[in-house]
Order: sequence, then structure tokens, then C-alpha cells
Amino acid sequence: TEATAAETPAPRKLAVPDTQTVTQVKHYTDRLFSFRCTRPASLRFRSGEFVMIGLMGDPDPKTGKQKPLLRAYSIASPSWDEELEFYSIKVPDGPLTSRLQHIAVGDQIILRPKPVGTLVHDALLPGKRLWLFATGTGFAPFSSLLREPQTYEDYDEIIITHTCREVGELTYGRDIIESLKTDELLSEVIGDGFWNKIKYYPTTTREESPKLGRITDLMRSGEAFSDLGVPVLTPETDRAMICGNLAFNLELKEMLEGYGLVEGANSDPQHYVVEKAFLD
Ligand code: A2P
Repeated sequence: TEATAAETPAPRKLAVPDTQTVTQVKHYTDRLFSFRCTRPASLRFRSGEFVMIGLMGDPDPKTGKQKPLLRAYSIASPSWDEELEFYSIKVPDGPLTSRLQHIAVGDQIILRPKPVGTLVHDALLPGKRLWLFATGTGFAPFSSLLREPQTYEDYDEIIITHTCREVGELTYGRDIIESLKTDELLSEVIGDGFWNKIKYYPTTTREESPKLGRITDLMRSGEAFSDLGVPVLTPETDRAMICGNLAFNLELKEMLEGYGLVEGANSDPQHYVVEKAFLD
């Protein structure tokens, strides 16, 4: 009755999780995997943004209640894709990834459809050359941006650097770059001369590969610029996005500031933007 409704405090609204269904899972190394899931019909996002995703946590031993266990994940698929893709680390004792790594096709995951982030074209002023600097799973937002036609409409040249400990950790990114060559939607905007427009610079730090070393060191010595055949970054022509581990982000940020680039935001577009890669 109305009387009891007025007296009884309103029940705390249970957060009904937004669930999506896993459609594909690929494991790359014992530390890395990617997966795809259905996309909520209402979800709009800008390539490069992230959302909160996760799983239901274990029941509380005392109350038996379950709470969602959520973490920020960059959407690795482009804004036009029917599905969503994510690229994740596996941490053996990570609260979320120790479980997330076992998801299979048909499983449900939780996805809060509120995309946000600064690794978006809107946060950068127009420029000629776009640098995408990643370490580890920091490649994820660039996987989205590299499949976004606007990236090629806005810039003459895209340089993607990816520093990982081991060669196997480069596979996901390398496969994405390879897939761009046969992407029908992009072939129109990229046109001929794929490798003139897109420069891919993978490096490893703890296993032998064609290019050894941290990207930061390779830039400081000038080796990266001579390998790529481009001049050092300047605020006049170059724009950059940074996504990796914290130490990398800070070090590279300082270097870019040294070249005269200024950090931008959605509300104040400038020369570069930075975001931390997900770590469980
Ligand atoms: P290194 O092996 O020399 O530490 P992680 O898996 O720990 O997140 O690291 C991913 C990659 O980022 C590794 O190749 C690592 O190199 C590199 N890295 C870590 N810190 C920095 C930094 N400050 N500047 C550049 N690269 C870094």
C-alpha cells in the first residue's frame, strides 16, 4: 500500500549488470590475450576511448552478495565495428584478469556503456604526422585508431611504435597492422603506398629481435628517427598519443615536452595526449 511504501525506506537499487556475450578469444602468450564481444546497440564511442568491463566477483563470505569486478579497458576495435574488441594482460593473481583470461565464446561479461578517454582525435590540433607510442597492452587504443578512417584523413603519415619485453608480445599489434592492408574501408583513404603512410616500429627489450631497446632510448640516441627517415618531433608538424606503463608514459611525456609539444585534452586540444595502459 501507499502507506507502507512511504514508511519503508526505498530498497537500494540493485545494480543490474550490463552483460555482453563473448564471441571470440585469442591467446597470444601466457601473459596476453584478446577477445571480442557483442556491442550494446546504444553504445557510441570515439575510437581510442575506454569503458569499464569485468565479471561478477565472488560472493561475499558473510553476506553472500556479489559485486561486479570492473576495470578500465581501452576499446581495441574501431568505432564503426559491429562488435567490441579488447586486448588484455593476464596477471596470475590479478583480481580480474586471473579469471577473465579463462572466458570462452558464449560467456557473459559486464560492460558499462559509458566510454571516456583522451586518446581521441578531438584532443589534438591538426597536424601532418601522428605518432602512436605504445608499450605492452598500451597498443589497444591504437588498434582502434589504426582501423579508423579519420586517422588517415587527418594525417599524411602515421608512425606506430610498440615496445615489448618479448617478440611474442608484438604479435597482436603486428596482426592488426597486417590486416590494415586488406581492409576495404581503409584502402580508399590509405590508397597506394601503404608503407609511406603507415610506419610500424616494433622494438623488444628482453629478447633478441630486429630492433632492440626502449623506444625512449632509441629516440634519445636519434636511432629511431634515422631508422624511420623522419625528423625529430616538432609542435608545427607532429602530434602524438602515448599509452603504456606509468614509467614509460612519464618518461616520454617529458621528452615530448622537451621537443616543445604541449599536452592536450578534450576541452583543450593540443599536440599530444597520454593515457595509462590497463594493469590488473
Ligand atoms: P624493459 O624490459 O627495459 O623494462 P612492462 O611489460 O613491464 O609493462 O613493459 C613493457 C615494455 O615497456 C618493456 O619492453 C619495458 O622495457 C618498456 N618500458 C618500461 N619502462 C619504460 C620506460 N620508462 N621507457 C621506455 N620503455 C619502458
